[in-house]
Amino acid sequence: MTNAQAATKIVRVSDPVNLEFPFETLSSDLTPTDAFYVRNHFSQPEINVQAWRLSIEGAVEKPLQLTFPELLSMPTHTVTSVLECAGNSRVFLSPKVAGAQWGLGAVGNAEWKGVLLSTILERACLAEDAVDVVFEGADKGVPDEQPKPCNPIYYARSIPKSKALEANILLAYEMNGAPLSEAHGFPLRLIVPGWYGMASVKWLQRIVVTEYPYDGYFQKIDYAFWEERDGLPVRQPITEIELKSQIAQPAAHSVIDANSTCLIYGAAWTGSSKIAKVEVSVDGGKEWHLANLGESDNPHAWIFWHYQWKTSATPHDTILMCRATDTEGRSQPLTRDLNKESYRISHTLPISVQVR
Ligand code: MTE
Repeated sequence: MTNAQAATKIVRVSDPVNLEFPFETLSSDLTPTDAFYVRNHFSQPEINVQAWRLSIEGAVEKPLQLTFPELLSMPTHTVTSVLECAGNSRVFLSPKVAGAQWGLGAVGNAEWKGVLLSTILERACLAEDAVDVVFEGADKGVPDEQPKPCNPIYYARSIPKSKALEANILLAYEMNGAPLSEAHGFPLRLIVPGWYGMASVKWLQRIVVTEYPYDGYFQKIDYAFWEERDGLPVRQPITEIELKSQIAQPAAHSVIDANSTCLIYGAAWTGSSKIAKVEVSVDGGKEWHLANLGESDNPHAWIFWHYQWKTSATPHDTILMCRATDTEGRSQPLTRDLNKESYRISHTLPISVQVR
């Protein structure tokens, strides 16, 4: 961890390093890289880029071994996308659940540049019966939660073949106009816009195409949930980011002047649709007021919003909330769905403040 990181981020776990963006400092559309959250399951691997190769293997007609210069020479693509950890805002859950107690800042918005995954998969020629594309990072360890393997495993996650061929899925080597930092996956990471961060595998070393559904640890044990199908509970991987808005300012426990105008602002984002409106409540969810929404042509980026709150002359304690609605008419729920276990914390979050 550099001093800059220690100064600007909240240390949620020190070993392995897990750092949070202080969401109350939100001020720029792109989250500066030195303030961007870091989510690691294992220790950061050491990679010698001269010796490093990206291997594409499994159900492909032409297995590939690509060097870093070869990747850099391919056609580039840039995408601005939110990356949100599926455990973002876990500290708001009651009763408490296991895992890093993230506040509001296990999320950020960045510009990612690299090579389209589809370009590489087309070169390798996927076999007709290919089902899943598995991405393996170079970091290794024994995970925390049971049932867990006895021996160290690499961090790995998959996406279905049809998703892997979509435009915008990137093998990224740049973040915010600079080479990817070691903490964010140098030399190469996957970026799956619209999906929770667990899919965006860092320190990529292997892409394995399978002819069967991949059921690895981070696919079906961690970052998964129980879903009822035909009356039977089945374990499903977490995928798409859920519609969400968060208040950056005022921060929780702020003291706000009575009889004043207070600017409430924050960001909103969604996995696949578009934000249609954000509403704000200054009385714990009894009444809702329309916020002013910023503009963004980028479907995967977050959007800023703000609301001018005229505080009353009477001192009181209150709860601020925000609620996003998308163009498909979906709104953030007011309460938590317990089936989501310790992930996808997308209901409206209470921010307690005092008016004095
Ligand atoms: N990739 C590897 N190899 N190892 C990891 O621990 N964590 C995942 C994902 N990719 C992880 C990984 C999770 S859970 C998240 S939320 C994002 O990386 C975080 O990316 P960041 O650390 O660049 O913010």
